[in-house]
Amino acid sequence: MPILKDKNILLGVTAGIAAYKTANLVRLFIKAGANIKVVMTPASKDFITPLTLSTLSKNPVYSSFTDKEDDNAVWNNHVELGLWADLFIIAPATANTLSKMVNGASDNLLLATYLSAKCPVYFAPAMDLDMYKHPSTKESFKKLLEFGNIMIPATSGELASGLVGEGRMAEPEDIVEFIEKDILKKLPLRGKKVLITAGPTYEAIDPVRFVGNHSSGKMGFEIANAAANLGAEVILVTGPTHQKLEHTLIAIKPVTSAQEMYDEVHKHYTDCDVAILSAAVADYRPQEIAKNKIKKKDTTFTIQLEKTKDILKSLGEQKQNQFLVGFALETNNEVENAVGKLESKNLDLIVLNSLQDKGAGFGGSTNKVTFITKSKSIIEHQLKSKTEVAQDLLQLILKSIDA
Ligand code: CTP
Repeated sequence: MPILKDKNILLGVTAGIAAYKTANLVRLFIKAGANIKVVMTPASKDFITPLTLSTLSKNPVYSSFTDKEDDNAVWNNHVELGLWADLFIIAPATANTLSKMVNGASDNLLLATYLSAKCPVYFAPAMDLDMYKHPSTKESFKKLLEFGNIMIPATSGELASGLVGEGRMAEPEDIVEFIEKDILKKLPLRGKKVLITAGPTYEAIDPVRFVGNHSSGKMGFEIANAAANLGAEVILVTGPTHQKLEHTLIAIKPVTSAQEMYDEVHKHYTDCDVAILSAAVADYRPQEIAKNKIKKKDTTFTIQLEKTKDILKSLGEQKQNQFLVGFALETNNEVENAVGKLESKNLDLIVLNSLQDKGAGFGGSTNKVTFITKSKSIIEHQLKSKTEVAQDLLQLILKSIDA
């Protein structure tokens, strides 16, 4: 799962021999798709050069409050740096820096940035074994954990002093894995199963023709992605679409017809926590499917259609503890019709798309939606990208299932 993708990671490097390993750490973060900036204490530059870290991170490296550009002094804004970061990782973290962090000292840019940061702060201690064991160091760990920082424990092994014991900084691969696992376990939908339908359904007329619609599936795929990014295990049941999605937490179940979608959805409904039905399911299908391709004969041609099963309604009828979300695409009396569907299908939430709104509906990358809750709160949104609409929807679901 691309947990670190597009995350802004600020790496703080302090003056320990393990600083040489941060070149690899930066590479691993870049490989994981993160954006990296590095802030170094002045003394750490004796252990690894800023040039190495700026080349690997593709960003300037900061180590003092001001830099000189020609004749002008440039202020390196520690507040901005702290706010830019989604995660601040101090590795290696020396005993000296850790004790300064405990006491709120800010006599270098790294420490000032630490005090300004609002994001989770991880520290990976690295020091000689006696320093690691010292009560003052233990006290620093304790205090920093109390402040809400997260410790990536040192490991045992041969140390730069030649002594063998605890104090080696965790290996870069282990640091990345530790952070990914930590983020994953704190995601708000971790442990929840979310069932989503997307796309159109195709109802066969004969072996080469079908009744279908223009749904692109984009909205459902965005919802699946947003749910997985919040840690949910997602089952995405989709009709034929060109959408692509790879995510270790998403299992894609391709189907073609409304009946196949019905069967697939019912396989997963009982043990899901949330079901979001965004598919544009065909309401009717040909009563009979011709075995062979139908030849043209007369000037007119009639196909007898019959109703498909309403998947959403069937889930509403069987609902136990699931939070059930439906979509409504309306052209007139929008709110009234959507409320009608909310009630008749026993939903917890309905997402209303009005075809009267420009930029809403099928195909495009934007949508304008109104959320209507079971208690009839009506939450109108502006025209947004489908990515944002998906995030808004998941946030509302989170709020509702937590309440
Ligand atoms: N839906 C479904 N199974 C169907 C038809 C619709 O699960 N056979 C779901 C859609 O995925 C959507 C919701 O029902 O979440 C509303 O679909 P919509 O077509 O707007 O409403 P219908 O109930 O089909 O009513 P109408 O077409 O009369 O507006």
